[in-house]
Amino acid sequence: MCGIVGYTGHKNAYPIIIGGLERLEYRGYDSAGIALLNGDLNVYKKKGKVDDLKKSLTHAKLDGNTGIGHTRWATHGEPNDINAHPHYSNNKDLVIVHNGIIENYNAIKQDLINKGYQFESQTDTEVLVSFIEDIQKNTQASLEESVRFALQKVIGAYAIVVMSKNSPQTLIAARKGSPLVIGVGKDEGEYFIASDATPIIEYTNEVIYLDDLEIAVIRDGNLTIKNLDSTIKTPYIHTLEMSLEAIEKGGYPYFMLKEIFEQPKSVTNSLRGRVNADEGTLTLGGLSEYMNRLLTADRIIILGCGTSWHAGLVAEYLFEEYARIPVEVEYASEFRYRNPIIKENDVIIAISQSGETADTLAAIELAKSKGAKIFGVCNVVGASIPRMTDAGVYIHAGPEIGVASTKAFTGQLSVLTMMALMIAHKKGIIAESEFREILTELELIPQKIQKALEVSDKIEKIASKFKDATNFLYLGRGNNFPVALEGALKLKEISYIHAEGYPAAEMKHGPIALIDKEMPVVFIAPQDGIYEKIVSNIQEVKARAGKVIAIVTEGEKNIKEMADYTIEIPATHQMLTPLLSVIPLQLLSYYIAIMRGCDVDKPRNLAKSVTVE
Ligand code: F6R
Repeated sequence: MCGIVGYTGHKNAYPIIIGGLERLEYRGYDSAGIALLNGDLNVYKKKGKVDDLKKSLTHAKLDGNTGIGHTRWATHGEPNDINAHPHYSNNKDLVIVHNGIIENYNAIKQDLINKGYQFESQTDTEVLVSFIEDIQKNTQASLEESVRFALQKVIGAYAIVVMSKNSPQTLIAARKGSPLVIGVGKDEGEYFIASDATPIIEYTNEVIYLDDLEIAVIRDGNLTIKNLDSTIKTPYIHTLEMSLEAIEKGGYPYFMLKEIFEQPKSVTNSLRGRVNADEGTLTLGGLSEYMNRLLTADRIIILGCGTSWHAGLVAEYLFEEYARIPVEVEYASEFRYRNPIIKENDVIIAISQSGETADTLAAIELAKSKGAKIFGVCNVVGASIPRMTDAGVYIHAGPEIGVASTKAFTGQLSVLTMMALMIAHKKGIIAESEFREILTELELIPQKIQKALEVSDKIEKIASKFKDATNFLYLGRGNNFPVALEGALKLKEISYIHAEGYPAAEMKHGPIALIDKEMPVVFIAPQDGIYEKIVSNIQEVKARAGKVIAIVTEGEKNIKEMADYTIEIPATHQMLTPLLSVIPLQLLSYYIAIMRGCDVDKPRNLAKSVTVE
């Protein structure tokens, strides 16, 4: 949510910053802006996408070796040119970019207004930068100290970068609750700052992850990192393995489509080095230290939001069925505001693609404070969640840039399936033959996903029939009920069609009233243990003239006779069907959204990484 970029070095800062904003645009696209330091401190900003900003800059003076940029997801103040970042301080000597929310900004603003300060925007950010200016004026402290004093007083979350007209070649960055990465440039004295590594990877793979309550001071080509109390910290430089290719569209019109089609590869990467069907082994190195804790857990609490929460719901079926451990799946945003009961033998699994979701972070902190052991299932290496959990497993899906999560979901399912299976095996409660059968099937999943993708033309045709629908129902049972929720979420978020997911049998308790000849109903109906039940549910919809699109197992005949449209997925073990059944749902939502003229990579009001609560 909001993307931040900063650069200082010997190169022209503008192309680096604007290119970085384009890479970070998935974090917010309400407005964009840059500030360049070249003796003067020039700010250029514009409502809309980075491209709108670029177009507005054709005649601007864009030189300077130090600069910052921002792409916004609005919290305080509507998206317009004035509320766009960067923000000047009152006397225009300082500028700031900010990701997060300053909760006590109103009180600070009132004090500053009483002292004669004026504000142009409605943002909390403009208050913060003027607060820094005020501290600097009153205390004669350095810029760095003034930022530090200000941050000691603010309540809320922030990632900020500040620049001053009077401090050439200087950037001050700090974070609490919102991410910041510092890239160590290949040229002497060159540094990059960004909300994540994607704007940096083109220039360097050496990065430092700023921790909460740390301030980075880059001055005249030197970097110092301190705590908010001013103790100097020794930075740890990580070497990134991310490639530039992984963050580009690679010939696809949208990141979302690229990421859908990447799933045979991304799931292979999730399984790589972990599953070996020939030898009958399953290894999740990240968990080894705490394996006993998992094996003896009385209960697993799974935390996540959105699609990650859906992956958690699938895992509930798997952990209970195979590992025989009771599971509760919680929205992190709800869990954090109650007083959850966590017992000594409970373990928490936090699922997050970005590893930065504010509610999930806060829920983890709460569980930690109650003494729980926390396991993470994340995609972004080095993000906040993997750094604050006791142990975890990366899904290795590669950068996911489309705002609607696709390959992260199948990566999460792969890892959670492996976890459930490994616990079952280590506890000795799964027959060796079934264990090996599932391992073999798991290894085949990437090629079966590939097969599921091969019917994309048929799905596109089905999409054309339903592109003008105003409502959709998605129904599934067992471990495919959460897939129904995920299918409905995908459609809602990128095509703006209202959609709901339900357990198919629940339909009779209300949603069946919605069914008429205008209502498309998507059934997820693989040939599993509850196939016969879902066949009855399909009949109930057809009896009321609903339009049925059914996801069925290859070769299935029964449903084909009843449904208006069927989409086949390859047969697999019942435990693994969600890894295949979600693929046609992702494609269906993608094609419908495209046909409705929606920007699927940047759906309205959304942002990829929800770093504010
Ligand atoms: C939906 C989607 C969101 C995220 C949610 C959690 O397509 O992407 O619902 O799943 O915001 O994000 P992470 O997984 O990064 O914690």
